[in-house]
Amino acid sequence: MKAVILAGGEGTRLRPLTLTLPKPVVPVVDRPFLRHQLDLLGQAGVTEVVFSVAYRPERVQAIFGDGSALGKKIRYAMEPTPLGTGGAVKNAERYLDDVTIVLNGDVLTDVDLAEVVRRHRESGAAATLVLVPVPNPAAYGLVETDGDGRVRRFIEKPQPDQVTTDTINAGIYVLQTSTLELMPVGVNHSIERAFFPALLGRGDHVAAHVHRGYWIDIGTPEKYLQVHRDVLNGRFPVRVEGRRVDGGWIHEGAVVEPGAELRAPFYVGPGSRVSAQAEVGPDAVLASRVRVDAGARIRDSVLWEGCHVGESAVIDGALLGAGVRAGRHVVIGPGAVLGEGASLSDYSRTA
Ligand code: GTP
Repeated sequence: MKAVILAGGEGTRLRPLTLTLPKPVVPVVDRPFLRHQLDLLGQAGVTEVVFSVAYRPERVQAIFGDGSALGKKIRYAMEPTPLGTGGAVKNAERYLDDVTIVLNGDVLTDVDLAEVVRRHRESGAAATLVLVPVPNPAAYGLVETDGDGRVRRFIEKPQPDQVTTDTINAGIYVLQTSTLELMPVGVNHSIERAFFPALLGRGDHVAAHVHRGYWIDIGTPEKYLQVHRDVLNGRFPVRVEGRRVDGGWIHEGAVVEPGAELRAPFYVGPGSRVSAQAEVGPDAVLASRVRVDAGARIRDSVLWEGCHVGESAVIDGALLGAGVRAGRHVVIGPGAVLGEGASLSDYSRTA
């Protein structure tokens, strides 16, 4: 069995971070996001994966190559123009076996894929959708099921009286690959809005698998930051490279000067340097080669490779792309998202 990971979207909601780095490879703590999905697939015994790419594919390829470094076999289905979530799967069809797992390239979850596949095969369904309960389902498209775990209807923009369920599409599917015959070739279309409704329309059995464990999509700055809090606080337990120190992680290639204060949880990545009197954490991630000068304070924030935080600067609730420079006494406040290479001169404030 093989899997397709949809990794070709522009990730507009995560701009400016995604202007240079596609969302599927943005770092999550210490590694590119898709590494977590490869791990999830690996747990279900799936090591052959097709990355369906369209936007900045070279950045994805440069990181993963043919997958051999990770013990995987990765192929790329490249789209000359974006084909949407449905067209992207159709474009990968030539690489697939009789049953296919499809993952959105931006969802982090601990769903047991082997169990989803087992139940998919048992039920004889044409397709199985993983659903997750959320507190505000109306903000998403709803998926309504009956008592037997069959999908009955999709409701795209529900009116208040149509919110009869709290489950939404988790962006994780198991398909009989033969059902892709329903998809047009080379045409942009959506798997969730066109393909699945069409399957239901022709009377196919579409099954639902409700997952009540961890699930988040990293598609917005708020949720991208939340994923980091979840990993740092152990709500999504994954291995992080580095020594466990006082409730955080310090990579062996990082330097924390005596007199620096680390407040758990935190991650100080390779090549990073935290100066004396600086304060890092709680919930701070210094991805790699981040320099934090004396008296600076960083909390509840993610700083990508090569950022430099000047003396007595304060960063709280923010996302900083690669190589951002914050001068002395700069204040970067909640909700700020700074793109690659942004530079704030001394005493600048975003809040
Ligand atoms: P936004 O622009 O912020 O909505 O993000 P997005 O472009 O990633 O769109 P969305 O979150 O709806 O996409 C869900 C998943 O499908 C993501 O993993 C995308 O990478 C992927 N995706 C979206 N459109 C395409 C496409 O045209 N081709 C491919 N290959 N993947 C796509």
